[in-house]
Amino acid sequence: MKNKPSKIPRLSLDHVTKEYAKDVYEPSADTYLLVDAIESDAMTGRLNKCFTKSDSKTSNAFHIVEIGCGSGVVITSVYHILQQYVFPTFEKPNYFVSEFIVTDINAKALGWSQLTCVQTTLLESLELDQRIDLLIFNPPYVATELSELERAHNERQLAAAWAGGPNGTFWIDILLPCVSTLLSKDGAFYLVTIASNNPYHILQVMKTQFHLFGTITFFFFFPFQLAKQKIEKFLILNMSVQKRNFVIANGKRKGERKKGYPTPF
Ligand SMILES: C[S@@+](CC[C@H](N)C(=O)[O-])C[C@H]1O[C@@H](n2cnc3c(N)ncnc32)[C@H](O)[C@@H]1O
Repeated sequence: MKNKPSKIPRLSLDHVTKEYAKDVYEPSADTYLLVDAIESDAMTGRLNKCFTKSDSKTSNAFHIVEIGCGSGVVITSVYHILQQYVFPTFEKPNYFVSEFIVTDINAKALGWSQLTCVQTTLLESLELDQRIDLLIFNPPYVATELSELERAHNERQLAAAWAGGPNGTFWIDILLPCVSTLLSKDGAFYLVTIASNNPYHILQVMKTQFHLFGTITFFFFFPFQLAKQKIEKFLILNMSVQKRNFVIANGKRKGERKKGYPTPF
């Protein structure tokens, strides 16, 4: 938990009008918990290790990527967090640049952002393998019928922000096998879950099948009503690649993903 007051500026939410919130997920308890978790790790220096300028880094830029950016509050806050706590620790001259990339299926969410924005599912069509230093996802995590998720996704409805299919983990399950390939050598992944997503099982699967070491970096009881469901406990998972050297098995690098994501529907 954070013990020092936040040093990041209060963000302007002028764009989050009632009209806007009819189409785009409004910044909510989960949004701010995710920001708090990341800031807390930045304050303790834990986040710095994602931004080590090792010679083995495949690119000269840091890549900070958020899937499902919604209102943009998380990525904008992360920009301020890095400026405040992480980047000033670099020696000068700093030849590394940072690129902030966001995706969302909802074009209205992307409209406000000043960053590189891509309307896509997860990170489909982006070539970011082994380049992402910080990957962030506050996914649709509420358990729903698969048909509800499918309708919301195909029609780009606001419900796509929370409809997570059975167990609420539909998108999480598709993304997780790709994470170790997406992350840079020292990269980290922050994922929001709720108790019913079975986060301990997620961490176990990530470790045994996908070479990702994860911890629950933050949890919070915060009764919150979403899509008529009461959500009480949020958990923020932090995962990083256990070993970058993949085991070669049958001529294939174990843990390497095939190009693209499985087509969901
Ligand atoms: C719970 S909201 C989080 C929004 C924002 N990141 C926040 O924390 O306030 C989930 C976001 O993911 C987007 N989304 C849903 N399914 C997605 C998918 N398959 N690929 C990318 N974004 C998706 C939704 O449109 C929504 O903006």
